[in-house]
Amino acid sequence: MSFNVIGTGSAYPVKVVTNDDLAGIVDTSDEWIRTRTGVAERRICTTETITDLALEAAQKALDNAKEYIENIDLIICATISGDYITPSMACILQDKLGLSCPAFDVSAACSGFIYALDIAASYFARGTVRNILIVAADALSKVVDWKDRSTCVLFGDGAAAAVLGKGEGLKAIKLSASGNIEALNLPNIRNVVPWVDKPAENTYFAMNGHDVYKFAVSSMIHNVREVVKMANLSNEEITYVLPHQANIRIIDAAKRRLDIPEDRYYTNIEKFGNMSCVCIPMMLDELNMSGKLRKGDKLVMSAFGGGLTTGACVLEWNG
Ligand code: ACO
Repeated sequence: MSFNVIGTGSAYPVKVVTNDDLAGIVDTSDEWIRTRTGVAERRICTTETITDLALEAAQKALDNAKEYIENIDLIICATISGDYITPSMACILQDKLGLSCPAFDVSAACSGFIYALDIAASYFARGTVRNILIVAADALSKVVDWKDRSTCVLFGDGAAAAVLGKGEGLKAIKLSASGNIEALNLPNIRNVVPWVDKPAENTYFAMNGHDVYKFAVSSMIHNVREVVKMANLSNEEITYVLPHQANIRIIDAAKRRLDIPEDRYYTNIEKFGNMSCVCIPMMLDELNMSGKLRKGDKLVMSAFGGGLTTGACVLEWNG
């Protein structure tokens, strides 16, 4: 027993920040950002909190699932930028949704949604749950250095959710981690401790773009091939590939090496930038809401991110 995705939802901030807006605060240009990343604009939290967006996405997914809310037996949130370290984002949503089930957060950066799906699959395999709510939510605008043009132009804020029910929709899944602080890190908050003689450190998001780029292309190619093989599918049988939206050049480089027809790749990086773990469930929701998904469609999802982590899976759409 694995699961089917029975509902999806997403939410994003009202504030649109264009590349020209960024060129007003750092030394960059619309041309540089578009050609090097594929991003034209992104949404940034101003009046909303990331918790507000997570709740909106969760409520939409629950509405879409048409499932009794009291049948949700677990909430898993994927995030690295929740409003609190404790309570977890999942516990805050559990309270706001009026539920009494267990709830916890998963920290796997951009791979968080796929990590959450894998955890969910083991709960369904044990037979201890009826439905699981997964919410991916990140607002990296809170943690990037808005003076660092090499990172601040890449990200956007948002949230997306999926309700899972019993079924056999998960055809293959694969996670990996290769611990590496230098490639990509976001330090935790640091208190000033009276007995510790240490100068204050930078607490912004930091990344070695070149290293992550190389890792991203090779892991995406490897993981997509592997899950497609595990699911016993031919490349022609894949309906959509939903790749993590970090950089259109990463996606194009992987595309050139994978023998999957071009028209199967779905992207939304142009409108939203990299929303961390939100990218994949947001694209899933866009496909679902626009009526593009048919029963039996095969969806390949592939993510990579801080950790360094990766996650890929094949889902059959039975929603
Ligand atoms: N505007 C203008 N110029 C810029 C900007 C900018 N925003 N940013 C960097 N530059 C400059 C650099 O200073 C450099 O100038 P120089 O040649 O004079 O030194 C030049 O542009 C080229 O810089 P590169 O770093 O070589 O640019 P590159 O083409 O590699 O693109 C990027 C950088 C977009 C970061 C790319 O390396 C990348 O996408 N890496 C992967 C990022 C990623 O996938 N992250 C995912 C994980 S996120 C998570 O887990 C939460």
